[in-house]
Amino acid sequence: MDDKKIIFSGVQPSGNLTLGNYLGAIRNWAKLQKDYHCIYAMMDMHTITVRQTPADIRRRTLEVLALYIACGIDPEENILFVQSHNPNHAELAWVLNCYTYMGEMQRMTQFKDKSARHADNINTGLFTYPVLMAADILLYGADYVPVGKDQMQHIEICRDIAGRFNAIYGDVFKIPEGLLSKSGAKIMSLQEPTKKMSKSDENPKAYISMMDDMNVVAKKIKSAVTDSEGVIEYRPDDESKAGINNLISIMSAVTGKTPEEIAGDYASAGYGTFKADVAEAVVEVLAPIRAEYDRLIADKAYLKDICASGAQRARAISQRTLNKVYKKVGFLQL
Ligand code: TYM
Repeated sequence: MDDKKIIFSGVQPSGNLTLGNYLGAIRNWAKLQKDYHCIYAMMDMHTITVRQTPADIRRRTLEVLALYIACGIDPEENILFVQSHNPNHAELAWVLNCYTYMGEMQRMTQFKDKSARHADNINTGLFTYPVLMAADILLYGADYVPVGKDQMQHIEICRDIAGRFNAIYGDVFKIPEGLLSKSGAKIMSLQEPTKKMSKSDENPKAYISMMDDMNVVAKKIKSAVTDSEGVIEYRPDDESKAGINNLISIMSAVTGKTPEEIAGDYASAGYGTFKADVAEAVVEVLAPIRAEYDRLIADKAYLKDICASGAQRARAISQRTLNKVYKKVGFLQL
């Protein structure tokens, strides 16, 4: 192995991926592939912490893979695989469960949010979700984990668990760092801009799906909730400007300009003009991805081949970590 550092990240195939997933995570992954060894997975085991339709998970797993590739991630250079195809994730998660405290899991924002939304199904998988996520990352000795802001708390707990394990058994795990993209790390809902844009939102107008037709994308942006002040200013700490702040952030993420530059460009414009331009800029970025996605998703055999070789490579790397862990905790080696 050369001395390139290792990147690990993934997305749950639990709904159509959104512009938030793209700008907060996947777009960044494509950029990192030049300088790092990158491992990107489809996190299907995480999806069943809330009830799903089995056929949807299966279909979306390949859709997410096609989208990764359509977003520019090279399936030869990087390892792309399905989480459930590598049993080492579940095995390490069990061990780490025994080094994680109830109190730590109870503090997790995502657990609190999801248990409020799914009060009839607060299962222990939902509770220990961050432990499985820690296993995902630690198995590969990842140096960096590029994610959106909402996942940073899970990276922190992963670091805590790894540090605790290392303190007992010596240097077993590399302590990973979360990596936020410079812009787009938290894209908000288009309808309730104080909430993050989420693929599980009940209102499809609240998010832009990577699967939306381009005219739908434009329409959703044009009907985004703003305010009645009529002034295009970037005021990230002012909740009353949440809608405009979000549109400015989206524009910044797709054009590479700073939010202040964008606000300057539109200082004398109305919301209608600004929204139309944001819509056009987003469509310009998404349209080619969508075209490439449509081409890739037609070739299921190709996608499944990538999963098979990815799983093999992922298993080989992660097995070394799991062996070390089993030895350290005292499991008999034959
Ligand atoms: P998931 O599937 O919810 O989201 C995938 C990635 O997209 C980012 N993201 C956003 N970024 C900006 N704005 C938004 N509105 C937005 N919504 C989502 C997320 O931060 C994430 O980076 N637990 C993870 C999946 C996972 C994982 C891992 C990630 C499982 N194991 C190991 C990294 C490493 C999740 O549910 O992401």
